[in-house]
Amino acid sequence: EFKENTSIVVFGASGDLSKKKTFPALFGLFREGFLDESCRIIGFARSKLSDDDLRGKIEPNLKKPNGDKDSEKVKQFLKMVSYMSGPYDQDEGYETLAKELEAHEEKNSVEHPHRLFYLALPPSAFVTVCTQIKKNVYAKDGDNRVVVEKPFGHDLDSFRELQNDITPLFREDELFRIDHYLGKEMVKNLVLMRFANTFLSSAWNKENIEMMQISFKEPFGTEGRGGYFDDIGIIRDVMQNHLLQILTLLTMERPVSFDAESVRDEKVRVLKAFAPIEKEDILIGQYGKSEDGSKPGYLDDDTVDPDSKCVTFAALGFKIQNERWDGVPFVMRAGKALNEGKVEIRVQFKGVPSGIFSDISRNELVIRVQPDEAIYLKCNSKTPGLSTTCQVTELDLTYSRRYKDYWIPEAYESLIKDVMMGDHSNFVRDDELDVSWKLFTPLLKYLEGPDAPKPEEYAYGSRGPKNLVSFLENHKYEFEDNNVYQWPVATPD
Ligand code: BG6
Repeated sequence: EFKENTSIVVFGASGDLSKKKTFPALFGLFREGFLDESCRIIGFARSKLSDDDLRGKIEPNLKKPNGDKDSEKVKQFLKMVSYMSGPYDQDEGYETLAKELEAHEEKNSVEHPHRLFYLALPPSAFVTVCTQIKKNVYAKDGDNRVVVEKPFGHDLDSFRELQNDITPLFREDELFRIDHYLGKEMVKNLVLMRFANTFLSSAWNKENIEMMQISFKEPFGTEGRGGYFDDIGIIRDVMQNHLLQILTLLTMERPVSFDAESVRDEKVRVLKAFAPIEKEDILIGQYGKSEDGSKPGYLDDDTVDPDSKCVTFAALGFKIQNERWDGVPFVMRAGKALNEGKVEIRVQFKGVPSGIFSDISRNELVIRVQPDEAIYLKCNSKTPGLSTTCQVTELDLTYSRRYKDYWIPEAYESLIKDVMMGDHSNFVRDDELDVSWKLFTPLLKYLEGPDAPKPEEYAYGSRGPKNLVSFLENHKYEFEDNNVYQWPVATPD
């Protein structure tokens, strides 16, 4: 159930994020019936554009999940969209915007306005726009929901400063901090899977789990945005936020209920038990040219300092100091310009006692977040036929095979729907960020300080730095012999 007559204002409407993510997600919700024509969507930005200019910009990305066009739906949707321009730091544009919203609400006899402000903006504009919203466009007798995107600060101090600027303006329940990984189907499934299956919940501890690994691989480098990336690095870009969210959901205790605060309380609690990251638990890399020389190295980008130590690959080992996890290594690794694009979680269970078996593989639970959502459990089973030997096989839940007729929403679709419903479960709370910055800031200071180690070079398109293999082995990861077991190609029947 959504609120009729909701007004949605997308700030930064002419930018890349709104073109690629925000508007397509709003369209997806409209297409699937989670938004209707009573709602208004107003794009707001500095550039002078007409309504049709904005519609023309966003139209090419409005598609069905299979990539086809639904011209009729697109036409209906675009009718709901209009555009307004104004400088971000002056009252005038916002005053006009307020009048528009009031007129819409009055016309439809809305007593309790429902306004959603989506900030698809760079962080520099963030506080300015929030201040203006509060001053000029805030519905005093209604619901106001403000959606913001990372980065939430650059380190602990800058995060706290940002937080101090925002706190007087909006209540925590009015703020929705997006971490779009929390909107991904598989990430949303983690808590359910863990706590709804006895065989998993009873084995989810140091007695049964040898190690866990989360890996994020992208097959492209920072081409074109090197200047921007140089200050950020892979750790801030995807690890302090997206991958830490996954790790938190994998390791937190069972929440007392599924309501947003109970879940987020547990997330904060486990984060507080993370030990500081030690130097021997850090492996960093930066990509060079591809082996055949056809792809550029990170430093070949003109916008990047030729001596940059920017980290484009990192593997980090975490320890969690609580009763459930003491002694279990958790590895998070992420890299740009690797051999493939994939995000997955691997949970390796302890080996079975030796004696009747020799050389038997560990059970491994693999949760593939993307592409092609799948969960499979590698287990040992008798080789079929007269043989009595064991072989590794898998219990397999490949979504495209099992859930043929389901709509799996895009992360942003699912999250914007949560905002409309006022559900905070899949958004990041202020204290969560405080703890996560506390954990990452010393590491970032070390990697960006005068004694920073030099990242190990790896070739564009490779599997990452050569030392990764020993790093993983030191963190108790056991490699499967590919001659013995390979995941069958997961194509639908
Ligand atoms: C963003 C990062 O937050 O996440 C990008 O800034 C990264 O560098 C992206 O490519 C990955 O998101 P997804 O949904 O494509 O896995």
